[in-house]
Amino acid sequence: MKFEMKDRIIYGADYNPDQWLDYPEIITDDFRMMKLANTNTFTLNIFGWSALEPSEGVYTFDWLDDIMDRMAEADQKVILSTPSGAKPAWLSEKYPEIRRVNERREKELHGLRHNHCFTSPVYRKKVSQLNRLLAERYQEHPALYMWHISNEFSGECHCDLCQDAFRDWLKEKYGTLDNLNKQWWTSFWSHKFSSWEQIESPSSIGESQLHALTIDWSRFVTHQTIDFYQNEVEPLKELTPEIPSTTNFMGGFPLMAPFEGLDYGKFAEVVDIVSWDAYPEWHNPNSSDFDVAYRTSFVSDLYRTLNDNNPYILMECTPSNVNWQNVAKLKKPGMNELQGVHSVAHGANGVLYFQWRKSKGSAEKFHGAVVSHDNRDDTRVFKEVSELGASLDKLKELSDTRKPAKVAVIYDWENLWAFNDSQGYGEKTKKYVETVQEHYKYFWDKGITVDVCTYNQDLSDYEIVIGPMLYLLPNEMVEKIETFVENGGIFVTTYISNIVNETDLVKGSDPIFDTLTGVRIEEIDSIYPEENVHFTYKNKEYAGKEFYESVYLTNGTSLGEFKDQMFKGSPAIIRNDYSKGRVYYMAVRADENFLNDFYDDLLVEKGIQSDIEILSEDKVVIQTRENNQFRYYFIMNFEDKKKSIELTDFEEYYSVLEGKAIQAKDIQLNAYDYIVLRKEL
Ligand code: GAL
Repeated sequence: MKFEMKDRIIYGADYNPDQWLDYPEIITDDFRMMKLANTNTFTLNIFGWSALEPSEGVYTFDWLDDIMDRMAEADQKVILSTPSGAKPAWLSEKYPEIRRVNERREKELHGLRHNHCFTSPVYRKKVSQLNRLLAERYQEHPALYMWHISNEFSGECHCDLCQDAFRDWLKEKYGTLDNLNKQWWTSFWSHKFSSWEQIESPSSIGESQLHALTIDWSRFVTHQTIDFYQNEVEPLKELTPEIPSTTNFMGGFPLMAPFEGLDYGKFAEVVDIVSWDAYPEWHNPNSSDFDVAYRTSFVSDLYRTLNDNNPYILMECTPSNVNWQNVAKLKKPGMNELQGVHSVAHGANGVLYFQWRKSKGSAEKFHGAVVSHDNRDDTRVFKEVSELGASLDKLKELSDTRKPAKVAVIYDWENLWAFNDSQGYGEKTKKYVETVQEHYKYFWDKGITVDVCTYNQDLSDYEIVIGPMLYLLPNEMVEKIETFVENGGIFVTTYISNIVNETDLVKGSDPIFDTLTGVRIEEIDSIYPEENVHFTYKNKEYAGKEFYESVYLTNGTSLGEFKDQMFKGSPAIIRNDYSKGRVYYMAVRADENFLNDFYDDLLVEKGIQSDIEILSEDKVVIQTRENNQFRYYFIMNFEDKKKSIELTDFEEYYSVLEGKAIQAKDIQLNAYDYIVLRKEL
């Protein structure tokens, strides 16, 4: 059961007073400025370990007591962090086992953060002890709102403890070595294992091409990270069962993609509420802000879906620039408020920044923050932060709304890992994430809500499910898709699907999937990025790129054929009616023109349409949230120019921020501006 944030939109920042304990006047000023910034919630203590326990067993909680009390007095809620994201030097010194060993089997020195061994019993014990003390101390504190477990779990450790734990995990999974050898196809290159001890995690100086091993290692890393998380929350759950726990998931790059390193589909199952940190590369001349916005939306929708569709939290973003990006570009005026509201439009009930105040020294002193080094409350950034706070306060009536979706797109981590690791298909053209995002974009452009599901989600409530490039497809998932189609759903899939099973063994053929799609695929051709393949669909010609397949129809119907390249004349787009539903198969990586026409037809077929129509030419982004009474429309301008928008049904809208009914005939949106409209259902 996920924690349902119904009553508030939280707003604030990552507050690190442990950096300012020698500057009490700064801390006093922080609390003065928090009021001006219209915040209501802060994360606290994220990297506070050495300030709480300066040497083993010596605790200095007084500063945290003081800050917690001041937070309560200032009417600010606290998302209290467990500080395991960075370990104190004395701990690394005394217990070397907590330091990671990298894939080249080198033990790391002390330094940086997010680099403890997840298996180490010592680290687990020390973290658990400190977490218990935190829970005991603050369990009744009025400011305590939520637990923030560690920070951005990531990475892997290859120490002996982790190798043993990996082997135990494999024993549990495969039972016998013989079974493992078979499932991993270790007969290739004489890789058969004759004892469990011979199995080692992947390494560039050891095994790196036994693909089943690599996928299992990634699964194990997720498993071990989750196990570590559960060890952290145990004392918190015992002492504060009513206080929810989260941990901040990450985004990935380029521009914005899901983080690749952990299977968040699995991780999301154990957190009480999903939160994530978004650092999109806005204002990048190589990509429009629209593109950055839809990729960011994709990640938000994925994490929202993983949160059982309940509101999630945007736990970190920057109010201005990101110091570690290649170009540390500032957000243009309006962009900060637009990004925050855009997250809310995608289902967030919280927006927080990294960090409240810029550090005076060390790694992130040039990272954007609410309060800059000049300590002023009248800077452009501070004023924009404060304006967003005021706006979110006016939007709090939306906090009990949701985003029901009729359409889902599938994105799955195991599929990503297996496909990216496979040797084949051309290294540079795989583009799994980009491809899923391209399919998603069609619906996003139309303002149609899309859920982004992994293989774990239930599909039964959707009308259309789109699964591009399902390279690794477990049999249970094939069955799930079959049931979905049998019950009347439309399923769309593409080239490079259903190739391997969970252990990366090639399936060859699969009676259920082949009957579902109505085709037999014989060959796949990878073509150079400079080349195209052309095909028809409903008598119109389109271009395809990078991949196309030779298709033999079994019970499917061809909707268009290839016009050139090697498989000229072979079906390119196939429809197969199956039980009460229908499956479409795209045997080619088609361009946007095709996807637009194809999905236009699909929406007509299912009678799905976006329920707001923009009559003007100017392009804006629309997202909706709703409850039983109202539907809310977020209309957002992701361009650096003014726009005039004309909507249908103009009499019926109410502008939530302005607090009045408006004539939606001629809405003016400035650069990076937005409006939130409400309509009775
Ligand atoms: C996040 C991290 C923060 C801070 C921020 C800067 O990934 O959780 O602690 O480093 O990046 O962008």
